[in-house]
Amino acid sequence: MEFKAQLSQQAARVDRIMDRYLPEECGHQKTIFSAMNYSVRAGGKRLRPILMEETYRLCGGEGQEIEPFMAAIEMIHTSSLVHDDLPAMDGDEYRRGKKTTWVVYGEDMGILAGDALMIYAFEVAAKAFGMTAHPERAGRAIGILAEKTGIYGMIGGQTVDVELTGQPVPEDKLDFIYRLKTGALLEASMMIGAVMAGADEDTVKKCGEVALKVGLAFQIQDDILDLTSSTEALGKPVMSDEKNNKTTYVTINGLEASRKQVAELSAQAVDTLHGIPGENPFLEQLILSLVNRLK
Ligand code: IPE
Ligand code: IPE
Ligand code: MG
Ligand code: MG
Ligand code: MG
Repeated sequence: MEFKAQLSQQAARVDRIMDRYLPEECGHQKTIFSAMNYSVRAGGKRLRPILMEETYRLCGGEGQEIEPFMAAIEMIHTSSLVHDDLPAMDGDEYRRGKKTTWVVYGEDMGILAGDALMIYAFEVAAKAFGMTAHPERAGRAIGILAEKTGIYGMIGGQTVDVELTGQPVPEDKLDFIYRLKTGALLEASMMIGAVMAGADEDTVKKCGEVALKVGLAFQIQDDILDLTSSTEALGKPVMSDEKNNKTTYVTINGLEASRKQVAELSAQAVDTLHGIPGENPFLEQLILSLVNRLK
């Protein structure tokens, strides 16, 4: 099958899995259910769950025990976007082609919906214990999910990103921000795929290295698109970084060097991927396709 068709088939598969876990919109607290579902069902590329499942397959995983983790990582990622768009952070009004959660539901519900998605993700991930013959793998995977989401991961990165908004940022600090705010959830995706498949330590470590490179490339490309794309193509506002006076890889190094860096990091990621036993040509194509992504 052609790569693009395969990718959209995988994204549709993620949507079906998520649908099984998303809450029903009834009961006294139905506003929060509805805000959560709105944010997740708005769409998105579903890159993290796809990377997770493809890594699981690469490492020989064959079961369904990966599915709760696929739903969980996408919920956590979505929660990070819901909070990132709040007026107190990037203050953006469009996401995934729709009004942002806080614009539709109010800032109060925007805060709660982000919180809700982040913690509900762990409720969902815990369902893997009942689906696997290897509960110790599920335990380790939940630990990785928590670490890469929290203060040593995405939240840690967002902290420094927000704190340094409007200031010049030295390149080493910017690298720290990108590794954590964006790299960490990608690391979690690939590492959890490997752990749940029962991969050895060296493979889990290499999967983390691949993901970190992909994460850096992904964030630099995000910065490039913020400058060069359109709201229609991205489904989110362009020039958001300029509006917020953010230092990015592009403001420091310029567009051309940034494009080169994206291609270089992606090639390095694929190189490291080749050192992992097993083969998954789709995963390799996916990583390389991100270099020229337009959204
Ligand atoms: C956006 O992530 C936030 C970044 C880490 C750059 P994505 O570009 O994966 O957003 P969706 O999930 O497709 O909406
Ligand atoms: C955000 O980076 C990364 C997150 C952890 C949400 P950005 O602020 O550049 O992401 P976008 O451009 O709003 O998607
Ligand atoms: Mg941001
Ligand atoms: Mg933002
Ligand atoms: Mg951005």
